[in-house]
Amino acid sequence: MSAHPGPSLLVDNIGELVTNEPYGESGPLGIRRRAAVLVEDGRIAWLGPAKYAPAADGRIDADGAAVLPGFVDSHSHLVFAGDRAPEFAARMAGQPYTGGGIRTTVGATRAASDDTLRANVSRLRIEALRQGTTTIEIKSGYGLSVADEARSLRIAGEFSTETTFLGAHVVPAEYANRPDDYVSLVCGPMLRAALPYARWIDVFCERGAFDADHARAILTVGQAAGLGVRLHANQLGPGPGVQLAVELGAASADHCTHLTDTDIDALAGSETVATLLPGAEFSTRSVYPDARRLLDAGAVVALATDCNPGSSYTSSVPFCIALAVREMGMTPAEAVWAATAGGARALRRDDVGVLRRGARADLTILDAPSYLHLAYRPGVPLIRQVLHNGVPQCQ
Ligand code: NIG
Ligand code: FE
Repeated sequence: MSAHPGPSLLVDNIGELVTNEPYGESGPLGIRRRAAVLVEDGRIAWLGPAKYAPAADGRIDADGAAVLPGFVDSHSHLVFAGDRAPEFAARMAGQPYTGGGIRTTVGATRAASDDTLRANVSRLRIEALRQGTTTIEIKSGYGLSVADEARSLRIAGEFSTETTFLGAHVVPAEYANRPDDYVSLVCGPMLRAALPYARWIDVFCERGAFDADHARAILTVGQAAGLGVRLHANQLGPGPGVQLAVELGAASADHCTHLTDTDIDALAGSETVATLLPGAEFSTRSVYPDARRLLDAGAVVALATDCNPGSSYTSSVPFCIALAVREMGMTPAEAVWAATAGGARALRRDDVGVLRRGARADLTILDAPSYLHLAYRPGVPLIRQVLHNGVPQCQ
């Protein structure tokens, strides 16, 4: 507690408050009705029935609307230059997605100035915030040289503490015939340059990118250096990624589009979150992951955007919630939980994705009476106001 608390703010007259905290019979979303939330020093100081709300210096009238924890987007690739709209158009005309376009973005990213990269991250960060995202993980992975990966992470770190070193995104063109040498570079000089700016390490473990042995080598050395592990796994086809993620105690296995029963059992019996990224299946016109199967087996599921210029150029968590409900067998409640508390679990955070006393005052006021509208009214701008660290954001 600071000696001089800043001004307090009461979010009052909330019709439906999603807390993600156990509350009576209200289910996993911990819904409270006719509630209020008091914010002080960037944290939640109190929440409860509106009729017992304490006095505060300022007041926001939610006017009966729904209020949720800010979305926790646990998977994005915001540090890049250029876009790949023609590649998207070609896919919609029948071309498959292979991940090969990553090298196009690597060329554009290397050629861009720091200011250009920073401006692009800033634009996308604001775009995400306006759609209710208050925590966002940001990966490198379009630099793929020691200097370009380090600067990607340095710039990412200006916007988020959740930064991920993805030097092993693909083997860059100049190492095309010597992938082992590239893996040595990633494990040595590139990791050392990335370390000051990264919290996590990730590998694209997939046919055409990195196999299980390369991925294990890179993740193990990153883990030994103090980074948390996450993994792009089983996106384009079945493979060893999910098993490897569980073996290494990864916080998250991301994509999980093509899973065997053994993969599902491994996830369900582990602390590794299955992070589903339906924007990628939408934008690559691929089969969606089966969230129902994962949930029924007892796995923890997160939903995130995968925002990147190739496979998923959306920063919208509400869009992903709508897709997950319509296409992946999730109920609206499961999808909202996955995009808030699930994302927090995937980042091993307990101060976000949940509304309780002491948690970060990151919350979203909807232009709707219920969280259900996020899936029920797809494509509609339903985010009325966002508080980040207790501060109302520009809308
Ligand atoms: O998560 N799959 C690997 N990485 C990104 C795609 C990157 C790209 O196509 O530029 C993903 O889908
Ligand atoms: Fe990704």
